[in-house]
Amino acid sequence: MRGVPERSLWAAPADVNGGTQWHPERHWVPLFTEGEGAAGTPERRRVPPSGERERSPYAVPTVQLVEEDHMPAEKRSLAGTVVAVTGASAGIGAAAARLLGEAGANVVLGARRTERLDALVEEIGADRALAVSLEVRDPEQNRAFVQAAVDRFGRIDSIVANAGIGMYGGIEDSSDDDLTRMIEVNFSGTVWSVRAAVPHFRRQGDGGDVVIVSSVAGLRGGADEAVYAGTKFAQVGLAGSLDRELREDGIRVSAICPAGVETEFAIGAGRTEGDPALAAYLRPEDVAFQIVTALEQPRRLRTTLWAQWSMGQGS
Ligand SMILES: NC(=O)c1ccc[n+]([C@@H]2O[C@H](COP(=O)([O-])OP(=O)(O)OC[C@H]3O[C@@H](n4cnc5c(N)ncnc54)[C@H](OP(=O)(O)O)[C@@H]3O)[C@@H](O)[C@H]2O)c1
Repeated sequence: MRGVPERSLWAAPADVNGGTQWHPERHWVPLFTEGEGAAGTPERRRVPPSGERERSPYAVPTVQLVEEDHMPAEKRSLAGTVVAVTGASAGIGAAAARLLGEAGANVVLGARRTERLDALVEEIGADRALAVSLEVRDPEQNRAFVQAAVDRFGRIDSIVANAGIGMYGGIEDSSDDDLTRMIEVNFSGTVWSVRAAVPHFRRQGDGGDVVIVSSVAGLRGGADEAVYAGTKFAQVGLAGSLDRELREDGIRVSAICPAGVETEFAIGAGRTEGDPALAAYLRPEDVAFQIVTALEQPRRLRTTLWAQWSMGQGS
């Protein structure tokens, strides 16, 4: 805009979800931007609510307008950045891709079910999203996945290592093959994704973000998930060590540790579709919000470990 600098007005909701509940994502909601119109006169434009926000259970009533000067925290814009997400065909990964797209990022989506990825690309917009077939257990496919991001968008800013599987039961209950697959997808797959992205971050020379989607099971495993929890502990350990290795290159490493999330995860392997207990779980959008929040921190700071529960879940 010419002359008058662009600024925003924000709504501070006093009453969220019909009560006095506070929700960090919805605490401040942009309502208008103000700038200079074509005729040189001040102009205020309404920020259209996104489809996601309209569907949100946290739909926010407008109560009070305050100026952006009052915003307490600095926020990094994701607009134009390039974020690659593994396991983007379902659950947390798909929700993260949508939210990143809404935040203006270019997203590169990896998973085996490419028909789902193609549908997501159409939803986000083919100009800003790319689908790539990816088996995370294969190091070469991870390198090709990251290279596809660089070829298409010119660079890569962030990798979200999210692909994972789970099965519940005692140490004797799963087959050797199933446990091998879980260990390889959850841990080896994370290693291969990170190893594919880091050389690009280093070559670009302006930092990068590694986000690893682990679990609260990676902080304290339950009695019916020992091997799964082991893979998630391994991711947390990997993230902590990587943070110490990569910080000097300006590369941030964040481990996201959600409690149970209502997705397709472990359905038929310890969870049952439609189980009413799942309604109290986190939603994939909650974890997506955490991922976006980690990336939106200004690059001068880092938060290495995020644990997240719904209010209906005990810790
Ligand atoms: N749901 C929970 O309760 C929960 C809680 C804490 C942490 N987590 C973690 O969150 C992450 C995402 O889980 P979710 O709940 O979103 O599960 P989900 O809905 O089942 O999605 C899993 C994703 O991983 C991908 N994937 C699985 N195996 C793969 C492979 N071999 N190669 C490439 N991609 C593969 C799947 O894609 P394709 O099948 O198309 O390849 C899918 O996109 C996992 O790491 C999980 O451990 C989940």
